[in-house]
Amino acid sequence: MPNNLLAGKVGIISGALDHKSIAWKVAQKAHAEGARFVLTNAPLAMRMGEIKQLAEECGALIVPADATSVEELENLFSQATEHLGGKLDFVLHSIGMSPNIRKKKHYGELDYKFFQQTLDVSALSFHKMLAVAERQDALNEWGSVVALSYIAAQRAFLDYTDMTQAKAMLESIARSYGQRLGKLKKVRVNTISQSPTRTTAGNGIGGFDAFFEFADKMSPLGNAPAEACADYCVSLFSDLTRYVTMQNLMHDGGFSTTGISAEVVEMITQASGSGE
Ligand code: NAI
Repeated sequence: MPNNLLAGKVGIISGALDHKSIAWKVAQKAHAEGARFVLTNAPLAMRMGEIKQLAEECGALIVPADATSVEELENLFSQATEHLGGKLDFVLHSIGMSPNIRKKKHYGELDYKFFQQTLDVSALSFHKMLAVAERQDALNEWGSVVALSYIAAQRAFLDYTDMTQAKAMLESIARSYGQRLGKLKKVRVNTISQSPTRTTAGNGIGGFDAFFEFADKMSPLGNAPAEACADYCVSLFSDLTRYVTMQNLMHDGGFSTTGISAEVVEMITQASGSGE
């Protein structure tokens, strides 16, 4: 139920490809909470995706930008502040892509050109966004920037290959830029570490169904759905979380602090045929 948590706030939401995207749900929830925003995605993804539908629903302008291009990000931030009539209160980075995962390369055979693209698209793009925002002085005091991460930044999940390193870098950028922008502008920067979620990016990972089921069985609350992740983003954009910054915030139904669960024990017992 909307509470006008973002009334009067303006921002940029990246990464809404289709209705399954986490960013899609963030846009719908932010709109319901009274925010106005610009939607952005890579030009190619926009042609293939359904973003126009979302823009109509939310009354949002679309500004295409490849997040690896500083020039395109400069255009994005200047068009957004012009269109929205002033500085921004929130930015969502919801961008991830690994050519190595797309080509199904295992961890021992990663292509290093692809690896660099993974880091550029999925992590450095976050630094580029923040640096452009800083140079253009595009963020309001007490603004909030959020990027989406995954627990593979802290734990080994081999099938997540080079995205593992990309997420570790993303979280590190959030801490460093959080320190810088906190001091300069009272702007907060955080990452949300989300449960496995059935989206285009998620489904591309080898063995995703097993990842998903295992995490769901391990987490006392079950996997956090995309809608709940969007609620968490809204809370971080709102004034209710003004002193939360430089954090990697687990949004995973309790997965990250669970050792083992009864459901997983049962699954293993049944599989090994040792159940009574
Ligand atoms: P998605 O596939 O709907 O979104 C990924 C977005 O990245 C797409 O909209 C895509 O067009 C965009 N993108 C790719 N390259 C780009 C570029 N060069 N410039 C601009 N945009 C570009 O999938 P999802 O799951 O909503 O992903 C959003 C974020 O959530 C990603 O950072 C992902 O790693 C993260 N995440 C996803 C989880 C999952 O299981 N689906 C779990 C934890 C984090």
